[in-house]
Amino acid sequence: MATNITFHEGTVSSEERHQYVQQKGATIWLTGLSASGKSTIACALEQHLLHLRKFTYRLDGDNIRFGLNKDLGFDEKSRNENIRRIGEVSRLFADACCLTITAFISPYRVDRQFAREIHEKAGLHFVEVFVDAPLSVVEQRDPKGLYKKARAGEIKDFTGISAPYEIPESPEIHLKTDELDVAESVRMITQYLVSHGYIPETTQ
Ligand code: ADX
Repeated sequence: MATNITFHEGTVSSEERHQYVQQKGATIWLTGLSASGKSTIACALEQHLLHLRKFTYRLDGDNIRFGLNKDLGFDEKSRNENIRRIGEVSRLFADACCLTITAFISPYRVDRQFAREIHEKAGLHFVEVFVDAPLSVVEQRDPKGLYKKARAGEIKDFTGISAPYEIPESPEIHLKTDELDVAESVRMITQYLVSHGYIPETTQ
C-alpha cells in the first residue's frame, strides 16, 4: 500500500446522488461453476433491468480477463486478486448508483466475503446469488469443451475438477439452473430487488 496518500471526500453526498440518478446502487454477485449459467443469467438480467429503464451494467469473468485482469491466471492467488479487483470495481459502480451484475466463478468464500464487506461498509447492498448446477450437469453442458480438456489434464487448476469451488453458505438467492429456465431465474432476482426496495414495484 502506498504511503503519503489522503482520502478526498467529495461534496456530493450519497443521498444527493440517489436523488438525482433516481436509483440506489447494489451489486448482484453471481457465483457458481463454469457453465452453471452465470453469464446467460447476467445478460438476460441486464437486458431486463435496462428495459425497465434502470441504470445497470454487467461485469463478466471471461470478458474482464481480456482487459483489466489480463495479467491474471487461475492459480489461487490470481483468483483472489481477480475477485479483490472486481469487488472493488463493483463497489465503485454501486456507489455510482448502478445495479451492477457480476458473473465470476469466485470459488473462494473468503473472496466473496471480502466483496460483501467492502460494500456493506460503504452502506451498499450486496446480493449473493448462488448459480447452482451439479458438476455432472455442467460437465454434460461443457459449451467451451473446457471440462473435457480439464479431465484430460490439458488444463490445470480447473474449478470443480482440479481446483475447489466453495459453495455459498447463506446466499440471498439460490438458483438451481438445472430446474429453472433463464426467465424464471431473472424473475426471481427481480422479485428480490423489488421486495427489498432496490427497484420500485411498479416497474417489475
Ligand atoms: S474466477 O475463478 O477467477 O472467478 P473467472 O470467472 O474470472 O474465474 O473466469 C472463469 C472462466 O475462465 C471460465 O468460465 C472458463 O471459461 C475460463 N477458464 C479458463 N481456465 C479456467 C480454469 N482453470 N478454471 C476455471 N475456469 C477457467
